[in-house]
Amino acid sequence: MRILSIETSCDETAMALVGASGGLRAPKFKVFKNIVLSQIAVHRPFGGVVPNLAKREHMKNLPKILKALVASGYTLNPDLIAVTVGPGLEPALWQGIEFAKDLAKKLKKPLIGVNHMEGHLYSNILKNIRIEFPAISLVVSGGHTILLKLDSLTKWKKLGETRDDAAGEAYDKVARLLDLPYPGGPEIEKIAKSGYPIVKFPRPMLKDQNYDFSFSGLKTAVLYYVRDNNKTSRADVAASFQQAVVDVLVGKTIRAARVYRAKSILLCGGVSANKYLQKNLKVAASNLGADFHVPAFEFNTDNAAMIATAAYIQHLRKKKLPMLANSNLNL
Ligand code: KG4
Ligand code: ZN
Repeated sequence: MRILSIETSCDETAMALVGASGGLRAPKFKVFKNIVLSQIAVHRPFGGVVPNLAKREHMKNLPKILKALVASGYTLNPDLIAVTVGPGLEPALWQGIEFAKDLAKKLKKPLIGVNHMEGHLYSNILKNIRIEFPAISLVVSGGHTILLKLDSLTKWKKLGETRDDAAGEAYDKVARLLDLPYPGGPEIEKIAKSGYPIVKFPRPMLKDQNYDFSFSGLKTAVLYYVRDNNKTSRADVAASFQQAVVDVLVGKTIRAARVYRAKSILLCGGVSANKYLQKNLKVAASNLGADFHVPAFEFNTDNAAMIATAAYIQHLRKKKLPMLANSNLNL
């Protein structure tokens, strides 16, 4: 089937046209078109995403992307239209939902609501890989940090999540402390490359016998350090902060993988774009004898292709989500 998917939960307006086949046992995908219009330039002066500006930009961008899709030669004849209904910024979500409802009506096609986090979770199967179960998935984005144990593509248990800031949020807040622009994740990664992790920041909850996370104390530690040590370079602070985050994310994921005898480890969400995290988790997984998977770069941060994968799985499971923006939807 051909799925036309729409994503507007935060500051990326995205649409994709994806072919899906194979059913739940062996789902296969072909991304025909994956368009993302980033709003970074609009939000950057404010140091973060402004919900009503995001809504306005989505309103402007959605018809533009649809036009571009048609102009690229694809006939708009999907079997299913999918749209993110949560979690995310409510005004931003509504813009996508209303647009999708209109389009479904015009094209007389069925419409399905999708959980953005399931999109991230399934972004790994866009590569048409075979995942060995049980698997441990580390979902790290701007709003969430979640550790899951999966027994199959559709059966999972949440092992733990962040008690305060998400990993991406911590990157963004620390970037602001270092006068780096929004979004901070890629900026920290970039300058950390020329720094050394010489500052011993805390590794919050690393030793706790649970799978929860906490990053707000680490952010505060960086705040005090920067205030009191103006001789340390930003690159060294960034490298030290990144090392602390990666140590915690990798440490907890590997412990879960060991305890649950995971055959694979799946990394996803915006922070999964981070090459240093990818490298460290890959090495740790290999030492454990587990497969390691991470989506291709264009599918790490928010995109609509991943929404199509979740829509396909959901459609096969005959699972229905109400066509209402739900900012608190979770996994
Ligand atoms: O998944 P995503 O695009 O949006 C949400 O669902 O939240 O994730 C965005 C988050 C931001 O906090 C951003 O700073 C972070 O992902 N991020 C990164 C990198 N690229 C994006 N964090 C660390 N390193 C990166 N290279
Ligand atoms: Zn996301």
